[in-house]
Amino acid sequence: MPSISNKGQAMPESPIRKLVPYAEAAVKKGRKIYQLNIGQPDIKTPEKALDAVKHNNIEVLSYSHSAGFESYRNKLSKYYQNHNIDVSPDELIITTGGSEALLFTMGSICDAGDEVIIPEPFYANYNGFATSSGVKVVPVKSKIEDGFALPPISEFEKLITSKTKAILICNPGNPTGYLYTKEEIDQLAEIVKRHDLFIVADEVYREFAYDGAKHYSIMSVPGIEQNAIMIDSVSKRYSMCGARIGCLASKNKEVMATAMKFAQARLSPPTFAQIASEAALETTQEYFDEVIEEYTSRRNLLVEGLEKIDGVKVAKPKGAFYCIAELPVKDAEDFAKWLLESFELDNETVMVAPAAGFYSTPNTGLNQVRIAYVLKKENLLRAIEILKAALKEYKG
Ligand SMILES: Cc1ncc(COP(=O)(O)O)c(C=O)c1O
Repeated sequence: MPSISNKGQAMPESPIRKLVPYAEAAVKKGRKIYQLNIGQPDIKTPEKALDAVKHNNIEVLSYSHSAGFESYRNKLSKYYQNHNIDVSPDELIITTGGSEALLFTMGSICDAGDEVIIPEPFYANYNGFATSSGVKVVPVKSKIEDGFALPPISEFEKLITSKTKAILICNPGNPTGYLYTKEEIDQLAEIVKRHDLFIVADEVYREFAYDGAKHYSIMSVPGIEQNAIMIDSVSKRYSMCGARIGCLASKNKEVMATAMKFAQARLSPPTFAQIASEAALETTQEYFDEVIEEYTSRRNLLVEGLEKIDGVKVAKPKGAFYCIAELPVKDAEDFAKWLLESFELDNETVMVAPAAGFYSTPNTGLNQVRIAYVLKKENLLRAIEILKAALKEYKG
């Protein structure tokens, strides 16, 4: 039989999706599952975005410009100006989700064997994008005890080699929920400038900042215009994960010209979804105010509920809609499988994402899970109740 590539074999499984077969088997048994494992918001997509597609009389569903519709990039640039991010339409490439923006970025700035330093735990698919680009992820550990704040800059400094091309951060963080302060972003800016590195900031959760905290974008830092690359997406902002629209932004012309070659090779981002995303830019602040209020109360309820369970430790998230919880178990993956295979409370159970897959240091985060608070409050309460009962019964 013809053989599979080494790269293909090295591609990691998604820790978020790998328990799906267990969940499917549980559903077949008639079990109800509260899904805390995946960042699929239950928030309604803005009607304006849906209407723009529904009431469209396009006759030929054609390709668009490889960088995306000009009209969309013009409006998107204004959205960024309103967020104190100065990017012009030609400093933006519309991509098929933030995922493609990450792939284009790695392809544009790294050769095989190059290194990217990433605070861990991090969004697990960074491992996948790095593997498919031949890039080595170099983790720098952030700790639950510090709420997953930025590790000391001296820790980054120790990891920089002649192969290091970039530092990649996620702000606010998936899976940590940590929101970097202006001081932390400034420290990162200083180190990338000093070592002549790129700083890639995944800001797909920009709007989700709680308790009055303000998101500080990498693109707002003066003096690192040639180093900074921003990744963005409509997936979470407008609850439009299925649209598959994101973007890549940088003031570095060489980066943009290179990324554009990747963009041309895949022709264009999806047309209907760009129409929806352009219309979504008209979403009012009230929509976000309501969404933020909802997530804040879900977060409070979740954190309070988890803290009441014996042996559970949690870092209170300041943004996004995830948290990492440390559980009184040895092997959170085994526990997560057991929840789906062997446990039920009145025929209901919960699904969580084992956190080890969000670390690239082996044998780390083994007793942690990632919980996404994307369920309505009553369901979240029930899920916590189930988790508490399960932890009492589990003999792991
Ligand atoms: C941190 C982060 N970056 C990027 C993505 C990719 O998003 P998409 O490709 O849907 O824009 C996600 C999706 O969950 C994410 O959590």
